[in-house]
Amino acid sequence: MSNVDVILKEGLAALDAAADLVELEQVKARYLGKSGALTELLKQLGKLSPEERKSAGATINAAKQAFETRHNEVRDGFNAAKLAAQLAAESLDVTLPGRGITPAGLHPVTLTLERITGLFATMGFEVADGPEIESDFHNFQALNIPENHPARAMQDTFYVEGGDVLRTHTSPIQVRYMLDNQPPIKIVAPGRVYRVDSDATHSPMFHQMEGLWIDQNVSFADLKATITEFLRRFFERDDMQVRFRPSFFPFTETSAEIDVLDEQGRWLEVGGSGMVHPNVLRNVGIDPEKYTGFAFGIGLDRFAMLRYGVNDLRLFFENDLTFLKQFN
Ligand code: FA5
Ligand code: MG
Repeated sequence: MSNVDVILKEGLAALDAAADLVELEQVKARYLGKSGALTELLKQLGKLSPEERKSAGATINAAKQAFETRHNEVRDGFNAAKLAAQLAAESLDVTLPGRGITPAGLHPVTLTLERITGLFATMGFEVADGPEIESDFHNFQALNIPENHPARAMQDTFYVEGGDVLRTHTSPIQVRYMLDNQPPIKIVAPGRVYRVDSDATHSPMFHQMEGLWIDQNVSFADLKATITEFLRRFFERDDMQVRFRPSFFPFTETSAEIDVLDEQGRWLEVGGSGMVHPNVLRNVGIDPEKYTGFAFGIGLDRFAMLRYGVNDLRLFFENDLTFLKQFN
């Protein structure tokens, strides 16, 4: 075997034995670098006669080419393996379904509020609004509850510095609306209200909805009919048991609590109601000789409890998503 064949054989074996691309390039330098084994052979061609140079040159060049071909094969092999490893490590299953956007949902009390305002809208009631921080005048005095009147004790109040209050009911919205509008008036007014209260059916922050209908000849019969019709529609039961229980509110005369019979056969108070007191009408500049009307204030959270069968009001306000997600 000639010298060239021996060098080529060793070179090819070294290429095959290279462990990685770095080693492979080192092998290449050893054979084809500046003073590589094959390069040295080419350098010596000058010392040969023209005849010998021709055949030796051809042999060495063939060896060089064979070496380069093998080098390229091994290098391509390493590159393919590297790519395959990378693809496996960073694999992405494009057939998996997307994570998507989780749709938000409405709070059960909001769902109840929307359902109730919708039902009253079909009976001709518009929606009115008012502030949660109220003046003593709107929350109490204009509603015929003077300072130091014992009726203030019915609603344990959060006071704000300066004498304002966190409204204890939605009734001040009646006052605001009647000061700004003349009869006929037919509104509902939902919103948050606040009292120093806390147990399974009382929360320090809860929701009420006020109703107010003032016109000529609006009577207690209209009050009963409107509220009973609303309750039947809300609970989708024509045999809904409703009780108007005689009561007292300073701002209504006659007054009645609205009770409904729950699934366990217990009466649950869902609101207060009555004929708007003549003093309240006078306080807002409406002539009680000409106009009469009724008002009611219902507890929206109680309606949500009854509709969804929730027995503890506080669950609505703990922000537990597992609980809240059930309603959407
Ligand atoms: C009132 O607040 C009167 N303003 C209602 C009214 C309006 C009467 C117009 C006449 C004319 P009362 O304090 O009873 O009344 O509250 C009304 C309803 O709110 C109650 O029946 C109950 O359903 C609900 N409620 C009262 N306190 C709480 C509380 N702490 N947590 C949850 N719901 C409550
Ligand atoms: Mg009450």
